[in-house]
Amino acid sequence: MYFKNSVAAILVIFAIIIGAKTFFSNLIHVGYDDNLTVAQRIAPLGQVYLEGDIDVNAIKAPVKTAAKARSGEEVYTAVCASCHSVGVMNAPKFGNKADWAPRVERGIADLVKVSISGKGAMPPKGTCMDCSDDELKAAIEHMIK
Ligand code: HEC
Repeated sequence: MYFKNSVAAILVIFAIIIGAKTFFSNLIHVGYDDNLTVAQRIAPLGQVYLEGDIDVNAIKAPVKTAAKARSGEEVYTAVCASCHSVGVMNAPKFGNKADWAPRVERGIADLVKVSISGKGAMPPKGTCMDCSDDELKAAIEHMIK
């Protein structure tokens, strides 16, 4: 009698557990994709490449698209004019022959060189850090006209 009751009790408990599992598993599965294969579920999120795993030389550096060079006037107006239009800190003024004549005598190549390295209160590249040498040269040619 005692034995029969315990078996019945165990069966009832199992029935409750299985019933509850079936009921709650639907809730638990929210947000869980049953259609994924086991391989997809346990796949790592990322991969580590060790030296030599891949040929790094085969990876091409992003091609730097050469931006269209700005004209001398554009560079001057955007950057150099803040000092060179009115002669801040004795900067040679735009189009002022007296200011530029002694400098032009040294040759445009030297002026480009000085404008790249800077000189006194003239900051390197006139603060136009992304200016190419040619753009600086064009800006100078625009100023000494
Ligand atoms: C912050 C102010 C400032 C800005 C901005 C500036 N300059 Fe100058 N620049 C000066 C000053 C000041 C001088 C005079 C330096 C000297 O003779 O000691 C000068 C001188 C020069 C000279 C003559 C250098 C020499 O050897 O005598 C050139 C060329 C020149 N600047 C080009 C440029 C160009 C090109 C730009 C823009 C891309 C520019 N500057 C922007 C202040 C500036």
